[in-house]
Formats: sequence, structure tokens, C-alpha cells
Amino acid sequence: MAVATLALGAVGAAGATAAPGGKPGPRYTAGAEGVGDAYFPFAGNGGYDVQHYDLDITYTPPAPDPAPLVGEFDGVATIDLVSTQDLDRFNLDLRGMEVHALSVNGKPAASVAPPLAGEEVDGAAYWHVQDDDARVWELTVQPRPKLKAGEQVQVVVEYGGTTTRPRDIEGALYGWVTQRDGALVASEPDGSMTWYPVSDHQTDKATYSFEITVPEGKVAVANGIQPKPEETANGWTTWFWDAPDQQASYLTTASVGDFDLRETYTSSSGVPIIDAVDTKLSTSRLATTNASLGRQAAMVDFFESKFGPYPFVAYGSIVDNDSVGYALETQTRPVYSSSASEGTVSHELAHQWFGNAVSPERWQDIWLNEGWATYANWMWNEERGIRTAQQSYDNWYAPARDAAYWGLQIGDPGELGLFATQVYNRGAATLHALRLEVGDADFLAAAQLWLERYNDSAGTSEDFQAVYEEVSGQDLDEFFQIWLYDQVKPPADWTTP
Ligand code: ARG
Ligand code: ZN
Repeated sequence: MAVATLALGAVGAAGATAAPGGKPGPRYTAGAEGVGDAYFPFAGNGGYDVQHYDLDITYTPPAPDPAPLVGEFDGVATIDLVSTQDLDRFNLDLRGMEVHALSVNGKPAASVAPPLAGEEVDGAAYWHVQDDDARVWELTVQPRPKLKAGEQVQVVVEYGGTTTRPRDIEGALYGWVTQRDGALVASEPDGSMTWYPVSDHQTDKATYSFEITVPEGKVAVANGIQPKPEETANGWTTWFWDAPDQQASYLTTASVGDFDLRETYTSSSGVPIIDAVDTKLSTSRLATTNASLGRQAAMVDFFESKFGPYPFVAYGSIVDNDSVGYALETQTRPVYSSSASEGTVSHELAHQWFGNAVSPERWQDIWLNEGWATYANWMWNEERGIRTAQQSYDNWYAPARDAAYWGLQIGDPGELGLFATQVYNRGAATLHALRLEVGDADFLAAAQLWLERYNDSAGTSEDFQAVYEEVSGQDLDEFFQIWLYDQVKPPADWTTP
């Protein structure tokens, strides 16, 4: 029966394309279950382009120790998207949560069991496959009526569950990481699906708005600005945040905790800076953190003088007293685990240009994020009189390193090598060598052209090379081959300007 249905479907489609007048009619197919990223084949989805996510979240943090470290999460995600093909079905990514209700353009869909291949499902429906072993988390939606290419569509998903402490492919905590006092939310590379239904890939950027309700006394901090003050009633406080800039899903945060939400101040160019610092930091960590955050405005000024205008509506930091163990450049508002050092603050700020405004089109292009953020910190250290970028380069170049170190291709480090030390420091060294290769003026001119041309979007290492070739007039094939792919120590040629 399934076979017969399939055959009929094929005939129907062929008939539609041969419509009278020669104009092809709609050919409805399923959107792809991934965008085709070699490292994360199921991340993101095909067949549509998300415009906006409105996330309405109610969150109850864990009870005090020794209660289990789990929270209660209830969400309503309203997703505005445009179909890019005639859609019979499309997917969202969602991991570890349960869907309670789903509608498309106001029409409710029924929850059904995942159909077998080729099996038809009647009417508007959705089903959710969560296979942890295969790393497949796909929420499939069958809209009825079907969607024509170019349609403006609104999908509303009511979902929720018990939050835990998800881990990425390497075993690092990420996504909605439940904390005793709330949650630290840091989702690189594919952890946003642990807390909202999403096309979880940076090639589908969107704007965001948030309404986060937490027990009175807790503070929820997300990306962007507060469009209005928080509201408290019946022991619950609702926090509102708006992120009107194009944003990759892995850069979304909505962290909850006992934060001191500090008064807004600005950079010289007028970028509002909003910081949230955990009230439970130790005295010494608080001192380190405050000293680093106190330099943010000056850092914005410095990077603007090198890279061009700060790309977003606001900035600021979230410093949580937690054990996630790394920082993340969440858009407009990086998160820091336990304290924020000056070096890390300069790194995460630089990511706002390199990684956030312009994102890596494929995860294999991660060196464009981490190499640049590390190099920007070398530049900041020079500005501060700590050491020159050349000295940082020499310190990286001099020591003997083993074959395993040189063997990692930073231009294609593998999904387990995304955050390898080489991606950071060989990446930064690559940029310093490039600067010596093309000269200071072209180095910065090309960086600015790259940021302008790929703003609000994403690019590859090949795109990056093309911009540097365009600006410098040099053929850089050999340069990038050596630095990104050759599995040996690069020659010393670039060590002397
Ligand atoms: N991009 C972050 C940085 O600024 C690092 C993220 C590490 N993530 C992880 N899952 N280990 O360097
Ligand atoms: Zn980084």
C-alpha cells in the first residue's frame, strides 16, 4: 500500500510540472534534514529560511542541594520563516525536550508516530525522532495545506521538559546547562537545539526576541537589549530581551542566575554595555572580573579602530559562578565561566566581528573564528604594552612541538578538533604570517572588506583567501596551503618582517 501511494504521488507530481501553459506547477518535496555540514550532517534544515525566533520561556531552577540538579522548562517558540521550496514536510532540530503542541499558520498539527519510509501520513501532523546514538534529533512537521516556495509561515511550538546538563560531541557541557542557581546557556556548535526548536546552523541567521519568566529574585539575561523593564507578579519575574541583529543559533543565550545586572554604560562610539555578574563570585574572582570588564569600552574603541564599527546593537558580559569551564562569544553578550580574565574578554569581544557578524560557513572553517579572536588578543596585548604581536608569534614559533601538534590541519580539523589548541594558536600565527606576507595596510584593509562583504552572513576559508588576494593582488594559494593544510611546521620565512 505504501508503495502504491508513493507511485501515485510521483505521477501526481509529474502531472503538475506539465501544467497547461508550460508553467511548472508546485512540486512539493520534503526539506532536507540538515544543511549539509560535513561535521554535523543533521544540524540545520533545508527548504526554508528562518526570519525570527520569539522565545517565551518559563524556567524553575533546581531546588537546593541535595535535590537533583535538574530544572523545569516550559517554552513556546514562535518561529517566522519563509519557505524556499515547495514544501510537503520540513524539519526543526530539538533535543531532549518534549513537544506538547504545534501549529503552522494557526492550524494545529497532530502528534503522530514517525512514519516508515514511504508511508503516508494524513493531514497536518508532526513527529519527533530523538536518537542519541546516531546524534539525530529531528522534529518533522507536515503542514497542511502544503507550503509553496516563498510563503511567509509562522510555526508555533509548545514544548518543554526537565533540563539536565547536555554534552557536545567531545563531551563538553553545552546547551542549556542546568546550574544550582539557574542555567548557563552556551551552545556552540549545535547545542541550541537542547533548549528551543531551531534550524541549528549558522547559515540560517535570524533575529530574536525573548520573554523569560523565572522565580522572583532570579535574573534572566539574553542577547541584545531590554526593550522594557522586567515585570514581577505572584512570585515570578518576566525578563524581556530583544536581539534585532542577524544571529547564528549557536550564539543565542538566555542565562539565568543570581546576577547583579549592572547599569548600562557606553563605548566612545556609543555602544551600550550591559553586564551581569554572579553575586556569588569569590572576592578574588570578582576583582579579576571587574578589572577585565572595566576595560571593555576601551577594547571596543581599539577593535573599532582596526576592524571597523562594532557590528551590533549592544555589548556586555555574563559572568557565572559555575563549572562549565570555558567562555563563549554569545552574540552581544559573551558568557564566562567562574571569572573573566582580560585576555578572554578581549578574545570574546573580537569574536563579535570574527565569528558573529561573519560566521564560518562550514564548521571546518572554525579557524576563522578562533584564529582571529586569538590574534585580536595578541593585538590588544601589543596595545597595552604587554608584548608585541611579533613577540606572541615568536613565542608560538620557537618551542619544539610534536608531530601530533603539526599534524592537525587547522583548515579541516575534524568535528573533534574544532576547539583544539592549534585552531587557536596556529590560527593566530597564520594571521600574523599573512600580515607579514601582504603588509600591515593590506592586512587590515582586507579584514575590513571581509567583514563588510560577509556581514550578517557566513564565508569559507576559500572566500577569505579570495578577499586577501583581491586586496593584495598576490596569489596566496601556496600560503594558505602551507598554513591551513600542510601537516608540518611552516617554514621560518615569515618570522622576520
Ligand atoms: N568559542 C569559544 C571560545 O571563545 C570556545 C567554545 C568551546 N566549546 C566547547 N564546546 N568546548 O573560544
Ligand atoms: Zn574563541
